[in-house]
Amino acid sequence: MSTEEIISNTKNYLMNTYGRYPIAMVKGKGSWAWDANGKKYLDFVTGIAVNNLGHCHPNITKAIRDQSKKLVQPCNLFHIEGQGEFAKMLVENSFADKVFFCNSGAEANEGAIKLARKWGADNGGKYKIVHARDSFHGRTMGALSATSKKYQAGFKPLLPGFKSVAYGKIEALEKALEDEKVCAVILEPIQGENGVVLPPDNYLKQVRRLCTKKKVLLILDEVQVGMGRCGKLFAYEHYGMKPDIMTLSKALGGGIPCGAFLATNKVAKHLSPGMHGTTLGGNPLAMSAGKAVLDTINKEGLLDGATDSGHYFLDSLKVLEKKYGKLIKEVRGKGLILGIEFKNKEIAKTVVDKCMDNGLLTILTIQTVMRILPPLNVKKKEIDYAIKTIDKALQEVADA
Ligand SMILES: Cc1ncc(COP(=O)(O)O)c(C=O)c1O
Repeated sequence: MSTEEIISNTKNYLMNTYGRYPIAMVKGKGSWAWDANGKKYLDFVTGIAVNNLGHCHPNITKAIRDQSKKLVQPCNLFHIEGQGEFAKMLVENSFADKVFFCNSGAEANEGAIKLARKWGADNGGKYKIVHARDSFHGRTMGALSATSKKYQAGFKPLLPGFKSVAYGKIEALEKALEDEKVCAVILEPIQGENGVVLPPDNYLKQVRRLCTKKKVLLILDEVQVGMGRCGKLFAYEHYGMKPDIMTLSKALGGGIPCGAFLATNKVAKHLSPGMHGTTLGGNPLAMSAGKAVLDTINKEGLLDGATDSGHYFLDSLKVLEKKYGKLIKEVRGKGLILGIEFKNKEIAKTVVDKCMDNGLLTILTIQTVMRILPPLNVKKKEIDYAIKTIDKALQEVADA
């Protein structure tokens, strides 16, 4: 099908919910993707932090192919071999004791909110949830209630009992937790959609301490930054603290819809049969892909790889920051979630668009930030290619 035919079908038959580029991707391999016109791109969007092993990694392809021949979906009325196996792997690699599998990031956060509320109901009737003002937790009504106001417009009334505070300001959280009806705080350890915002030094440790002191659960949303993205399997490992509940999705299923919320036994025991569920969550196909993802991350040393590549990429971006001080406000990142904040939105859009024209895919976030999400197994020469492409775009903007 031609690009025009694909776009025409989108326009005619799909709800108009996405601002899409006039590009239709049809093929991917490793760090590279091809559109319907045969144009090749270095894909540092990675499906928005989904393809952490690159496109069509042979281990994931094999796992999906093999499982699809055996059993795709028996449903949760029965025990599912892959669920226990994948949950065991996640538990052995994290703070958690128990896992619930669902299908997406928003759904994982819905589940986490329900679990926190059930824990709160069993602990004196606490139900309020505190979240960061500019956070992103998803588009379903519960997750949306904990998300930045700009995504909420037009969809009120939302869920009651949510309060927002500034991210990174421990005093603001301290004040919010004076309310004895608060059962949980939900935070992204690093904010992705808000422009790759890193927590101030010690902030997450202070949040942990405060939550423990106030007998409030801490939910970390690692949907975007988990599964090796930051150079550790989970971002919280960078900050010397642990959550009570963690949510995952995106890279978890290697591109097959898969989400999860994980919790300690102390918290997880508040759910019992009938309280939460999903038809497709934890299906064998998603579990086989998920096991292949985690297994490959561990066996191929991708956490160290992401750490090294992340340092190399950030150092290279810092050279550009110096060279184009008039255009760039700041470069920042952790592992392989990287951001270039530009001085204004016109510069940001021009640079992202020029890079795309020249075959490098990145994401424009909060209008002023170029978010860069390479696969964890990105090659040094691919990073060099990206830097050269960004450099060229910046030079053209500087010369204009
Ligand atoms: C931190 C975070 N949480 C939740 C979500 C929602 O995930 P999904 O789009 O799978 O519902 C996203 C999506 O970008 C995210 O970045």
